[in-house]
Amino acid sequence: MSVHSLLGYSLTVPDIEPGKKFYEDFGLSGTARGNRLGLRCGDDTRDTVTLAEGKGRRLNHLVFGASAAGLKVLEKDIKARGGKVVDAPAESGGAFAVRDPDDNLIVFRENQRADVLERRKKVIAEETAKYTRAGGRRGCPPRDMAVKPWRLGHVLLFTPDVDRQIAFYTDTLGMKLSDRSGPIIAFLRVAGGSDHHVIAFAKSDRPGFHHASFEVGGVDHVGFGAASLLRKGYRNGWGFGRHVIGSNFFHYVRDPWNSLAEYFFDIDYIADDAAWDARDWPGEDSLYLWGPDVPADFVENFDAPK
Ligand SMILES: [Fe+2]
Repeated sequence: MSVHSLLGYSLTVPDIEPGKKFYEDFGLSGTARGNRLGLRCGDDTRDTVTLAEGKGRRLNHLVFGASAAGLKVLEKDIKARGGKVVDAPAESGGAFAVRDPDDNLIVFRENQRADVLERRKKVIAEETAKYTRAGGRRGCPPRDMAVKPWRLGHVLLFTPDVDRQIAFYTDTLGMKLSDRSGPIIAFLRVAGGSDHHVIAFAKSDRPGFHHASFEVGGVDHVGFGAASLLRKGYRNGWGFGRHVIGSNFFHYVRDPWNSLAEYFFDIDYIADDAAWDARDWPGEDSLYLWGPDVPADFVENFDAPK
């Protein structure tokens, strides 16, 4: 019993307006919720990203989903391990929350597990049909192609202690280690059928928010989405390329506060936990198979110390 999905995240940002513009240009839809901004992907029935105005830029909380029975087990397990259950922020809709070893607030919300594989197949079929060559049509998408991520896939956080985070997220939240590269980076999934990772941790001298990654319906959507953002003046993060760990195509663009938003497509899906061997990869595989050189600041932690 464990968490079964990553549902969202909330950031404090110094100014909501540029955040609204960035995420809307990225392809999400924003709605003001009092003094906050809620943002949704195509498939969302609730806000997946929340921006709240405050000093600096930092992660407010992550939201994970679990069944009603799963929530009970989680609460029991947290307490049994000496953890302290705290109130979830009202706007998160969570049942309760806990602080992870880096003091990140982790919210748990009851929800129904989505069938990611089924929905993914449908999205790909729909997008492929738009650009079919049937009937003498050309395969190249039009210049006004709309890139709208259909879901949040994962987040990557900086941590001073990757192993401590792996222990907490596997022991207490019931997640699984999918792959790692020494003490530098680790990728974790939910048990019982999951993308290769829903959360990852990269070594830094302090906690921080590195990137959030959103799934799109094709390779073109990754390339075209990022190219459109760069044309609008946003700073390039890194891409277009393909990761080794997780296997996905990627392109990262810098948001207004120097963290990254990633478009991804074709990530590994681990349907059978027993059939997957977590590997410890050499450093050269931790980043990519092919793509442009990794920018010097790609793994820089821009978050201020807490
Ligand atoms: Fe990613």
